[in-house]
Amino acid sequence: MSFSTSRIAAGLSLDDVSKEFRVPPDTVSSWEAGTAKPPVQIASSLEFIGRMSAQEKSDGIKPAQAEFITTRDEGPLFTPEKLIKSKKRVADHGEVFTPDWLVQKMLDLVKGETERIDSRFLEPACGSGNFLVPILQRKLAAVEARYGKSDFEKRHYALLALTCCYGIELLSDNIAECRANMLAVFAEYLRLESHDELYRAASHVLSLNLIHGDAMTMKNADGGPILIVEWGYIGKGKFQRRDFRLDVLTGMSSFREERTLFAHLGSHEIFQPTESYPPMRVAELAAADVAA
Ligand SMILES: C[S@@+](CC[C@H](N)C(=O)[O-])C[C@H]1O[C@@H](n2cnc3c(N)ncnc32)[C@H](O)[C@@H]1O
Repeated sequence: MSFSTSRIAAGLSLDDVSKEFRVPPDTVSSWEAGTAKPPVQIASSLEFIGRMSAQEKSDGIKPAQAEFITTRDEGPLFTPEKLIKSKKRVADHGEVFTPDWLVQKMLDLVKGETERIDSRFLEPACGSGNFLVPILQRKLAAVEARYGKSDFEKRHYALLALTCCYGIELLSDNIAECRANMLAVFAEYLRLESHDELYRAASHVLSLNLIHGDAMTMKNADGGPILIVEWGYIGKGKFQRRDFRLDVLTGMSSFREERTLFAHLGSHEIFQPTESYPPMRVAELAAADVAA
């Protein structure tokens, strides 16, 4: 399909193409005149928008801005993804999901940390897990490389990897999707069924680590303070749990940086857990899963 045909099918002017793909107007004109060819990802993006526009017209829906955002793909492959759920949610909550190619590029900026089993990640506006899911996948790849030969170690270190992923999300459907997406990746890696102990333990961990709440006010959906659970694997199948208040933890970092009145306080004085638990095995974590 010629550039001109797919541009028209996509409902874009020359100026739109120039702005959407951030290329000079002269370059777009040369594609239109057929004296030069657009890069393959731009050509396929335009064809995709054209197809989406045609389908959305027949469905009676106006093409969403998200599809245009998706097409700004400088990655190796153009993968159509649904990046918004509705225009209202974009306006109300700034809900625009990040395309996978961009997520991967961003994660590569901290590649070493994403491939470390026990590095901790907190996504304060996690949506349905566009960052957390690939982080977990990278961690599980590290588990496989290091512990793939021992079933016991593999299962426990995979759970440790999961315990190191945290998210906060305002909208209940998103946090439910995020938990389900993370659990599906975990279960697929270890070939777990929903009745397996380890599956239920993972479900329990996710119910605590993926928080339905407001990262700005640091309150959960019930109005209480957001708790961050610190998990540690102490070996021999045992996990340690300590709970901290997010508002206290984040206050700690500002105290340090700003050298406030509290700067003299040692971390041990501020990093007091609200609760500490005795070491727990997978069976005990599974038993605590209310979703079971
Ligand atoms: C721009 S989307 C990004 C989602 C995900 N991080 C991604 O990159 O695909 C922002 C998300 O933050 C959520 N959100 C908005 N305000 C929030 C807040 N105060 N606390 C927690 N989540 C919030 C929205 O519901 C939405 O899912």
